[in-house]
Formats: sequence, structure tokens, C-alpha cells
Amino acid sequence: MENILIDKQDNVAVITINRPTKLNALNKATIQELHDAFKALNEDKEVKAIVITGSGEKAFVAGADISEFANFSVENGGKLAAEGQALLFDYVQNLSTPVIAAINGFALGGGLELAMACHFRTASDNAKMGLPEVTLGVIPGYGGTQRLAQLVGKGRAMEMIMTAGMVDANTALNYGLVNHVVAQEELLDFTKGIATKITRNSTVAIGKAIEAVNANYVDGVDGFKVEIKNFGACFGTEDFKEGTTAFLEKRKPVFPGN
Ligand code: COA
Repeated sequence: MENILIDKQDNVAVITINRPTKLNALNKATIQELHDAFKALNEDKEVKAIVITGSGEKAFVAGADISEFANFSVENGGKLAAEGQALLFDYVQNLSTPVIAAINGFALGGGLELAMACHFRTASDNAKMGLPEVTLGVIPGYGGTQRLAQLVGKGRAMEMIMTAGMVDANTALNYGLVNHVVAQEELLDFTKGIATKITRNSTVAIGKAIEAVNANYVDGVDGFKVEIKNFGACFGTEDFKEGTTAFLEKRKPVFPGN
């Protein structure tokens, strides 16, 4: 991997996007590497939660790499968005392993879109978030028009997209775009702490919960029905047997993860 770093410790993997001289902008190679990393970590039984962040103190990700698409045609533009969404943004949203974005600075354009594709977000107090695409004569193409409205409401999303303005961390907290704001030097440990809490719970149940929550946002899918199906499916898992047995035996569960 040339553009990302992966660190695994105590069932938590940290992916760091590592192009600090380009403010971690997402070029094609980085998107492919991120896809490969998420796929491998999701298949790794030792990994029960993933944190993604950016290297350096300035940026999480300052957007898609503008230098790569400046000369694109209509066809190339559509393909860029479709391939990126399939390979990374939708892929992360639907991953059964929980993914938390630790936003450590600028999260702009594709950077905010990546953070929004994660299951939830934390931010450092210097973080700034926005979708500045219309300043370039383009619109968000990695799910930003959909996920921002889902997270902050249509009116706020419209304003952020039309003005191309950045919101600071506390405004993002107030909007519900991030769940927590902490000092930059504490961000990674703080977020890893949340990830560690998650690792103590049933990975199978968490994967089914992610699928059920996401179902609310898929056209033509009844999320309540997905919840009923997944709830029932839990009763056939080893994790369920262990969880209920441990409770009745007044001990902490040791989930086998299947
Ligand atoms: N794509 C490609 N390169 C990018 C980039 C992006 N989205 N964002 C930053 N960079 C590069 C800059 O070109 C610069 O490279 P250089 O040193 O080789 O010239 C380097 O990262 C540092 O950025 P710079 O603009 O000098 O930093 P700054 O502190 O002055 O400004 C930002 C920071 C984030 C405000 C500014 O970089 C910016 O506006 N970036 C683009 C944001 C954007 O429109 N994203 C949406 C893309 S769809």
C-alpha cells in the first residue's frame, strides 16, 4: 500500500490515509487501496472495529484529487462517480464491520463524503467540513447530495452545498454530522476507545444491526421487515447463545463471532 497505513491492535484496526503533501486527497490509487484494505479487514476475524483518519494535523481528506479529473468528459465524470461509489463509499456504508471516521482536520468534498459513508464520525476541535464542489463547477459525486441530507436534514444540506461553505466542528456536532468533538491530540485515542467498547459486543449482531439501519435508506426496501428478518436470524447464532447464557450465569460474554 503506497497511500495508506494500517495498524491493528486489540481487535481495532486504524487506517490512516497517508498523502499529507496533498492533504490526503483521494486519487484513484488511494480509493483502490482503501477498498482492498476494507475488504481484507472485514474478512479478518481478529478485527472487530475500524477507525479511519488522515495523516498530519491539517486534513482528514481535502477531497477527490482535482488534478485527476480536471480534463474529464461527461462519460468519464459519470464513470468516476459510479466506480468510486461502488468501490469505496457504498462499500464502506454496507460493511458488516463497524467503521468510525476520526476527522482530524479538513474533510472536504470526497473527504466529507467518505466520512459520511462511515457508520459514524468523531472530530477534532480544529476540523472543518464542507462540500465545495460547486466552486469547481461540479456537484458532489460520491454520495454527498444523499448522505448529507440524511444526516443534517435537507435545508442544511442545501445551504452547505449551494454556499460551498465549511462548518466548524461544533456546528457539525450541533447538526448531528459528528457525534463527538475532542482536542486534536486526543482524537485518535478517544475514537479507539469507542471502537474498543464496540469490540466487546457481538460482531454478528452488530453486522445485522448495520444492515437493518441502512435498510431505511434504500428505496423500495422496508427497514422494519429487514429488522424482523435479522432479529430472527440472530437466534440461530452462537453469539446469541453465548450472550444469553453469560447473562443468566452472571458473567461477561466471550462471543465466538458466528
Ligand atoms: N486535490 C488535489 N490536490 C489537493 C486537493 C485536492 N482536493 N486539496 C489540496 N491539494 C493539494 C494542493 O494542490 C497543494 O499541493 P501543492 O503543494 O503540490 O501545490 C497541497 O495539497 C496543499 O494544499 P494548499 O491548497 O496549498 O493548502 P492550504 O492550506 O492553502 O488550503 C484547502 C487548504 C483545503 C482549503 C485547499 O487545499 C483546498 O481548497 N483544497 C481543495 C478542496 C476542494 O475543493 N475539495 C473538493 C474536491 S471535489
